[in-house]
Amino acid sequence: MTAVRFPAGFVWGTATAAYQVEGAVGEDGRGPSIWDTFCRVPGAVAGGDTGDVACDHYHRWPEDVALMASLGLGAYRFSIAWPRIQPDGAGPPNQKGLDHYRRLVDGLLERGIVPHVTLYHWDLPQALQDRGGWPARDTAYRFADYAAVVRDALGDVVDHWATLNEPKVASHAGYGDGSHAPGIRDRGLRDRAAHHLLLAHGLALPALSGSGQVGITLDLSPVRPLTPADTAAAEEHDYDNHGMFLEPLLRGRSRLGGDLVRAGDLDLISAPIDFLGVNYYRPLYVPRVPPELTVTAMGWPVVPSGLRDLLLGLRDSYPNLPPIHITENGAAYDDEVGPDGWVDDPPRVAYLRGHLLALHEAMEAGVDVRGYFVWTLLDNFEWAEGYSKRFGIVHVDRADQTRRPKASAHWYGRVARTGEVPP
Ligand code: NOJ
Repeated sequence: MTAVRFPAGFVWGTATAAYQVEGAVGEDGRGPSIWDTFCRVPGAVAGGDTGDVACDHYHRWPEDVALMASLGLGAYRFSIAWPRIQPDGAGPPNQKGLDHYRRLVDGLLERGIVPHVTLYHWDLPQALQDRGGWPARDTAYRFADYAAVVRDALGDVVDHWATLNEPKVASHAGYGDGSHAPGIRDRGLRDRAAHHLLLAHGLALPALSGSGQVGITLDLSPVRPLTPADTAAAEEHDYDNHGMFLEPLLRGRSRLGGDLVRAGDLDLISAPIDFLGVNYYRPLYVPRVPPELTVTAMGWPVVPSGLRDLLLGLRDSYPNLPPIHITENGAAYDDEVGPDGWVDDPPRVAYLRGHLLALHEAMEAGVDVRGYFVWTLLDNFEWAEGYSKRFGIVHVDRADQTRRPKASAHWYGRVARTGEVPP
């Protein structure tokens, strides 16, 4: 076997999200988010875990940036915490919050690491939830204001912007099945949230235009019926999970009815974007995962070819598909620190390797993919799973915050430095 080479200029990075890594929830004027509230609901998060401390990345980012640099990574995808910028979700910005992200961006740039900013990764200011949250149309306008505030503060140093991360999870888990903050279970509110998240994206685009590459990140999976009899159910599942977001964004069409979608909304939502961020972990099998497949610690099947099939499917379905960034891909395993302090994680190396080869196949077949970000840099707060699931290529000791790059971090660093997946 020979090494598989990616094109020159291909972007290699890792990704995190504010609430999952920062901690410091009461510092420098940050207001509460819906996740601070949700973590306090008994039974909502495994182990009663919270993001209060997380990886203490708010303070330890210089160490973490140095670690990325030592591995040879070229980019860092992180999110800005809206409640640090507008503690009440509206009004004049909190300068201390903006200063924090300015320092982080400067620190990255000094090390030659390109910042890729996500404006919303699920930490809605609690004050906005108190006024209706995403089911309220006004939240979309508040988001556009927030985007403009951040653009004014960081637009001179940040060239890559995603408006939202995984709006489907924000709407469907937050307002549909209630497994995420704010923990609401209501299909009507779920659909309202989904539309207003997309509207927020559309309203923010003009605020960000002229500040570099602007896009949105979706969680996408090929949907596979377990048997031919499951085909109709799989198609419905596909629309609910993907079509509800891809169709408005890339075709300006929505199936949502009533007075929800107003004149002009779809023009805003379908305005051209510079990239589509794709988070891929696994195919979605309807109604269940075939038992013969191997799974990660999340119980998610490991199917690298799903990434290739997903990308080819997108290319075939959407003639106006923008260039793609794989903004997340990775796996949770029950990693343990060995007696010598080394963390060996061969299943994660195999997962990353398999998915990079599948990605390369899609690119050879003509799909325009510009970059790849491993989820995630650090073992962190995995939402409703708390700290029980370790997705990091760097192990984090929960007792003392020691960072230990796992074997996968060294492996991935070599890929990033050489642009090649070794045989
Ligand atoms: C997608 C989300 O964006 C991220 O926050 C989460 O931790 C990973 N998937 C893994 O579940």
